[in-house]
Amino acid sequence: MNKASQLKKLEQEIIADKNLPLKSNLVFGEGNPDCEALFIGEAPGAEEDRLKRPFVGRSGQLLRKNIRELGWKEADVYITNIVKRRPPENRDPSPEEIESYKPYLTRQIDIINPKIIVPLGRFSMNYFLPLAKITRDQGKLFQAGKWYVVPMLHPAAALRGNEMMKMFEDSFKKLPETLKRIETEGNKDEETVPTRKFEKILKEEDIQKKLF
Ligand code: URA
Repeated sequence: MNKASQLKKLEQEIIADKNLPLKSNLVFGEGNPDCEALFIGEAPGAEEDRLKRPFVGRSGQLLRKNIRELGWKEADVYITNIVKRRPPENRDPSPEEIESYKPYLTRQIDIINPKIIVPLGRFSMNYFLPLAKITRDQGKLFQAGKWYVVPMLHPAAALRGNEMMKMFEDSFKKLPETLKRIETEGNKDEETVPTRKFEKILKEEDIQKKLF
């Protein structure tokens, strides 16, 4: 089965899972299943719920603009969220909601098998790097289990002020260069070959160990 069919099947499984919390529309994710870069936000907002598409509101516009400014097409990357339904009144997703949707996100990532994962904001970042701090660690390249991960500020945070916006945009601009480094240097050193399953709790020293 190709990746698109596997993703379709996974989406059907989520729809059929009546134990999942949150009853708003399913926002499964969109983009190229053969992408190099996978962007993962927190949870859909009102606009995303309405259109059943991730990152189409104000912060989505900023994310998509930054993707295009790299010379990439939005359709070439894949965009999704940890929690795939909108929490009421745009509140933060709860730990229980994150936990419930986690097995589906894990399988979605496995199917896509991206070269690099860009978690947007601390909830998504902490899913891969539980001890990382967003303002300290955003823009750095980490190895989290079998994935290469560059956490970035959530675009909604970037919209809150010039300093955060600059941090967001500066880190974003480095993405193509980071991808090249993974291709050329990523698996050379035995120590850096990703082998562990990323669901495992990472140790502090693993998390603090930047790859490059
Ligand atoms: N914020 C997110 O984290 N995800 C979306 O899809 C939209 C806004």
